This record gives sequence, C-alpha cells and structure tokens, in this order.
Amino acid sequence: MPRSTFHEHYQFLKPTERLSFEEITRLANLFVQIGVKKLRLTGGEPLLRPNLTELIAELGAIHGVEDIALTTNGVLLEKYATELQASGLHRITVSLDSLDPEIFKLMSGEVQGLEQVLTGLTAAQQVGLKPIKINAVIKRGVNDHTILHLAEYFRNTEIIVRFIEYMDVGNRNQWQVQHVVPSKEILHLIHERWPVHNVSSNYLGEVAERYRYDDGAGEIGFISSVTQPFCGNCSRARLSSEGVFYTCLFATQGLDLKTPLRIGASDDELRAMICAAWENRVDRYSEQRSQLTTPDQHLHKIEMYYIGG
Ligand SMILES: C[S@@+](CC[C@H](N)C(=O)[O-])C[C@H]1O[C@@H](n2cnc3c(N)ncnc32)[C@H](O)[C@@H]1O
Repeated sequence: MPRSTFHEHYQFLKPTERLSFEEITRLANLFVQIGVKKLRLTGGEPLLRPNLTELIAELGAIHGVEDIALTTNGVLLEKYATELQASGLHRITVSLDSLDPEIFKLMSGEVQGLEQVLTGLTAAQQVGLKPIKINAVIKRGVNDHTILHLAEYFRNTEIIVRFIEYMDVGNRNQWQVQHVVPSKEILHLIHERWPVHNVSSNYLGEVAERYRYDDGAGEIGFISSVTQPFCGNCSRARLSSEGVFYTCLFATQGLDLKTPLRIGASDDELRAMICAAWENRVDRYSEQRSQLTTPDQHLHKIEMYYIGG
C-alpha cells in the first residue's frame, strides 16, 4: 500500500464495511460445500486483523476443509506463532524478498523489521507450523543480486524458498517486462552453485514448480506466472475483506456477495450466485499479457493489497 496514497489520514474501510468473522465463515462454508478444500488468509496484512486466530478456528471447524494457510509479511509472527498454531492453522507463507536490510525495506514498503521477520520464522518453526514457505519476488536491478544469499540462508532449514516472477498486479507498481527475472535464469544461477533436480507437483494446479537440492539441503520453488502462465490450471477463488468475490488475481471487477448476504439471501441463493460466476469465468489474463511488452494501463485491475497474492 503506497504511503503516498495511504497516508495517516486515509479513510480505510469502516469495521461494518468489512465482512464479520461470522459472515466470512458463512461464505467459506458455502464455497466448501461446492468443492473448495483449501483456504488461505492473505491481504493486506492478515495479522493486523484483531482476533484473527478466532477466525482460523472457526474456518477449521468447517466440515470438508483440509488445509488452512496464511500469507504474512512476518512482522507480527513472533507475537502470534503459538496462538496461530493452537488455532489450527496448518502452514504459513512469509514474504521476504531479500536479506539485505536496505533492499528488504525498499521492497516491503518501508517495513523496518527484517530482524523481526527472521525471529518470527524461528518462532513459527519452534511451534511446529509446517511447511514454512518464503515468497521472494525477484525484481531485475533491485534484488536479483541477493538471490544466492537468500537461497543459502534457508538451505538445510526445511524452509522452502519460492522465487516469484515480478507481476503486474494492479496498476500502481509501474510494471515493465524488463523488471521480470525469468525463473529459468534464477534456476540456472542456483543450479550452477548447488545442483538441483525437478520434483513432481504435490497436486494438480500447484502454482510453484518444485526443485530439490541434489545434496539433500531441501526444496526450492519457482512461480513463473509471467514466462509460463498457468491460467488453465488455476482453481483459486478470492474473497475480499468487504465481500467481493473475484475469479482472477488480475480481475477488473468482482461479484458483491456482502449485499445479498446482508439483505437476507438464503444459502441456496448465495451458492447459486457463486456457482454462476465461477462457471462463467473466462479469465486468462496472464496468458493474454504474455503477448504484451507493457501493461495495458486502461485495465483497472484490483491492487495486490486488496486482492492478496
Ligand atoms: C500482497 S501480499 C499480502 C499478504 C501479506 N501482507 C504479505 O506481505 O505476505 C501476498 C504476496 O504477494 C506477493 N507479491 C506482491 N507484489 C507482487 C508482484 N508485483 N509480483 C508477484 N508477487 C507479488 C508478495 O510477495 C506476497 O508474498
């Protein structure tokens, strides 16, 4: 969330404009009834939402939920690790783009807490949240020279680093194709230093391509949505904090579920709305974008802090 726009006087959503935990759980229940098995809490920064662990426990109690994950910047992880584990959270992904404090600060929007994030990771390991994954977005000329350091730091820790191609989510990050470091280039760099081999996906539609170090030092992954779009396998549905349902990370519009929910729609009616939107989805933005060299600025895509990663 750029500081220039989201300054201290910015009017954020009022609590009543956001879905309550009860509303989120009701909608999650409906999604699960029609086939969803995995839930991920992202944001924005999910650990800023008061009493988040209560929501996790409620979501975990939904019959049919097999997996609950959380994506966080890790700043509050040490504080909440024990509570998160106790609430039934299965695993976490922590965003960490570089171990160089200045580059970390630059890429995380002035978050000062590299040390806090590393301490949070240790705390998460100690309480047994597993597997722990790191999301590292690699941007040419910004943090690409710190890739090997990041990989080395997490070798032999059981923490899986996933290198992500820099994407043009939203319209504010002034994305240019020149900023993208293709996964193949990162793979080559790492393989030259510590040979790796490809391992098969855990499940159909897994976004990361997985590799293991030949010397047994662990796993890394690559998310290559720019150079190898995976729209055809994408099965992710996204629900914003104000109750809008999106069928794509690069969506320009979504389906408002909060209004019908608050004016008394039945579960059958809400399920029918969700199914219709899902069955009619035609999103394949990443595939379409691969034909462009600069983003189409006329598309008003939803920003990343709003729709989650
Ligand atoms: C938007 S964040 C939200 C959750 C949480 N606040 C965090 O920092 O992890 C979710 C993920 O999106 C990734 N991300 C952000 N901007 C990106 C971009 N332009 N391209 C690719 N991934 C991006 C981040 O690395 C992060 O792992």
